[in-house]
Amino acid sequence: DVIDVRGLGSHGVFTYDPGFMSTGSCESAITYIDGDAGVLLHRGYPIAELAQHSDYLETCYLLLYGELPNEAEKAEFVKTVKNHTMVQQSMQKFLEGFRNDAHPMAVMVGLVGALSAFYQDHMDINDPKHREIAAFRLISKMPTIAAMCYKYSKGQPVTYPRNDLSYAENFLHMMFSTPCEEYKVNPVFAKAMDRIFILHADHEQNASTSTVRLAGSSGANPFACIAAGIATLWGPAHGGANEAVLTMLEEIGDESRIDEFIAKAKDKNDPFRLMGFGHRVYKNFDPRAKVMRETCDQVLAELGKSDDPMLKIAKRLEQIALEDPYFVERKLYPNVDFYSGIIMKAIGIPTSMFTVIFAMARTIGWISHWNEMISGPYKIGRPRQLYVGHTERSYPKK
Ligand code: ACO
Repeated sequence: DVIDVRGLGSHGVFTYDPGFMSTGSCESAITYIDGDAGVLLHRGYPIAELAQHSDYLETCYLLLYGELPNEAEKAEFVKTVKNHTMVQQSMQKFLEGFRNDAHPMAVMVGLVGALSAFYQDHMDINDPKHREIAAFRLISKMPTIAAMCYKYSKGQPVTYPRNDLSYAENFLHMMFSTPCEEYKVNPVFAKAMDRIFILHADHEQNASTSTVRLAGSSGANPFACIAAGIATLWGPAHGGANEAVLTMLEEIGDESRIDEFIAKAKDKNDPFRLMGFGHRVYKNFDPRAKVMRETCDQVLAELGKSDDPMLKIAKRLEQIALEDPYFVERKLYPNVDFYSGIIMKAIGIPTSMFTVIFAMARTIGWISHWNEMISGPYKIGRPRQLYVGHTERSYPKK
């Protein structure tokens, strides 16, 4: 049920809704979620079908323009993305200002926020062509920036993009090739990465996307808005959960310790939560988690690690949680982050890069929402508050 309160604010009436549990902030035609039924559609297409039949760049096109591309449109789109993969050489100097041991997310927030200093042309947000160029720059440069963050943390020189490779292949190449050795991309890993990108591409008005919209509603430039989204995604209750899942699985270490962690998660005096479980909107299986689990099995089979202890702990944990009344009553199902970490670890990606990769994949969702908002009539986002401080009082006489 929707109660439309448009205009009521001007009469001094407002709703108090901490956490925006029941507040819609916008109209959107990009993504539909039915959390009770476990349904996720992008522009009407079910996520499982996109994961099976589409690829990430095609999904980007769909999110941005609203329809799947025909062959010629897709080829042109891919070509344009590849035209923008390099970043200004001077960004390298900027990168070198960070400490090597900084978290890659800290570096990424900085680099993306700084894009508006390196790319000052085509910044008229009211011009649809300029907005499109900003979208291309972001989709194309995010993998390059993500890999730069990783290489810098390793003390290795940056690997330049290769435009003869697919989006996922090129990302793995930039991550793992060195000046001494070209990384041979395993097609199963590239497919798994592409799926991870598709499954993270958009998820309507989550905390980071809402932040991007809010920042954009002030007329801020697209790079600054996306940097705000990245900062929001970093938290462990949002995108940081994939990193937290792996840390948790490593801490559990052995199936014999699962019960202990389940008990901790249920203990209301213990702040510990089972990472990768629960979702604000899904009160059923997260449809992305199903695809992720399948992909996880494929990657570990390719590596001959189907009996990986981490996977065993994850599957057992999932089974126990699905039967335990605490989790059943609260409808706490595994979310998208539960299996993605195991896949990325198997591919050789360090835990500190997990959220960076999430940010890279979500950029298309953020920029599509930003573009949708700017394309139509919109107001600056300005929530109200329930003031609980002092009433007026006089400044004490000295
Ligand atoms: N482990 C144990 N208990 C949990 C968990 C969990 N992972 N998640 C929720 N609960 C419990 C809460 O303690 C609360 O119990 P109570 O009713 O007895 O007080 C109840 O379930 C409802 O939880 P809320 O925090 O009110 O749910 P909310 O919708 O605000 O939070 C969230 C959703 C933040 C995702 C939460 O489930 C969580 O912290 N999960 C773990 C972190 C995680 O996996 N985040 C990734 C989300 S997906 C994404 O961002 C891509």
